[in-house]
Amino acid sequence: MKHDLSTFSSVLEPVQDFKCSQFYSITNKKTKPNLSTMPVVFFSTRFLFFSIVVPLLISIVLYRLDSFDPVHFPADSLIPSAATSTPPLINDRFLTGAEFIGVGLLNNPEDIAYHKESNLIYTGCVDGWVKRVSVQDSANDSVVEDWVNTGGRPLGIAFGLHGEVIVADAIKGLLNISDDGKKTELLTDEAEGVKFKLTDAVVVADNGVLYFTDASYKYNIHQFIFDFLEGKPHGRLISFDPTTRVTRVLVRDLYFANGVSLSPDQTHLVFCESVMRRCSKYYIREDRVEVFIQGLPGYPDNIRYDGDGHYWIALISEVTRPWKLAMKYPLLRKLIAMAAKYGVELLSIKNASVLQVDLDGNPIASYQDHPFSHITTGVKIGNHLYFGNLLQSYIIRLDLLKYPAQNKI
Ligand SMILES: *[C@@H]1O[C@H](CO)[C@@H](O)[C@H](O)[C@H]1NC(C)=O
Ligand SMILES: *[C@@H]1O[C@H](CO)[C@@H](O)[C@H](O)[C@H]1NC(C)=O
Ligand SMILES: *[C@@H]1O[C@H](CO)[C@@H](O)[C@H](O)[C@H]1NC(C)=O
Repeated sequence: MKHDLSTFSSVLEPVQDFKCSQFYSITNKKTKPNLSTMPVVFFSTRFLFFSIVVPLLISIVLYRLDSFDPVHFPADSLIPSAATSTPPLINDRFLTGAEFIGVGLLNNPEDIAYHKESNLIYTGCVDGWVKRVSVQDSANDSVVEDWVNTGGRPLGIAFGLHGEVIVADAIKGLLNISDDGKKTELLTDEAEGVKFKLTDAVVVADNGVLYFTDASYKYNIHQFIFDFLEGKPHGRLISFDPTTRVTRVLVRDLYFANGVSLSPDQTHLVFCESVMRRCSKYYIREDRVEVFIQGLPGYPDNIRYDGDGHYWIALISEVTRPWKLAMKYPLLRKLIAMAAKYGVELLSIKNASVLQVDLDGNPIASYQDHPFSHITTGVKIGNHLYFGNLLQSYIIRLDLLKYPAQNKI
């Protein structure tokens, strides 16, 4: 804490010096009584009092009263973007050649799941709708259908063994929607007596067990920024076994547990922690965690296996300079959180990307288009990469054969 206060005051010092010198230069004029400057002096002193001293006092009082109490992140959250996470192939202009699906009809389609048999994409929107979109040769021919409204905020989507649609709903919990869309059942919304606050992503194993994440048991989806800023781990990796109906916490104390995927041999999960900029493996039988990829150049959201030897990790934003600073200093995060409470957003989100990695976490290719942001998922269907996002009213797709990532060097 000491360390933070000193860095904070060193930031303030030059500002104070500047104000003081202004103050002195004005008051010095007092020695020469000049009627025209008198009101200026009076005005300036009062001005200084009301523009600096009072706001400063109010800020100090507000600061002390505010109960938000961020802490230091563990050291490994601060590792710089590793060379090992830089892919050899890049397409940094993916909007060139991109097609837009369901424009105006898909509000913030966060996750995408492809149902092969029906050739339909399922996606969850911010208005609570799980929508179905037909996949066509031309994106403009896609038809969007309002399928089921969960009454919450559907995020992660996966298909159960019997044609049902499993939804990780940020507000409701883990849902089971029958294949005809007529019945929605809550499977689970708590583990170890602690309710989920932000159920985020889900994957279904071949044996029917559901693996999913609760990003935070403390902050809901509208407050997620505070989870980022607080620096404490409220996320969990959880399983639900439909035969026993038991909800089991597999890994706790995660820093915003987000996307989850299963290895093709079904031995382990790969899950991402957004705040830590890393994804880890969880070996199911051994109950063991191991780093998969760390030092990512951005904050990972969903991770999807493509059935063909690759995972696709969506990075919702690059690590901007303000974020970098905020990660280091809890005090700065407190100020940012206070500003956020008053509706002032000080942290920018920009330059999102989708990173393709192999089964060992080695980066292969990256797709981005600066400053396009808020990409939440990258799903490969046929030759196309489909992008979900939290900002637009459409899904983007890119033909990877026509617009591949290329060697930059
Ligand atoms: C799809 O529709 C958009 C907007 O109406 C249009 O600009 C674009 O040319 C169309 N693409 C094709 C392949 O028809
Ligand atoms: C989901 O509900 C259907 C009935 O609508 C049931 O057949 C299926 O087993 C359920 N799936 C899970 C994972 O509980
Ligand atoms: C955008 O982010 C990627 C990494 O995800 C990085 O390689 C690239 O340089 C960034 N582009 C800009 C313009 O900052």
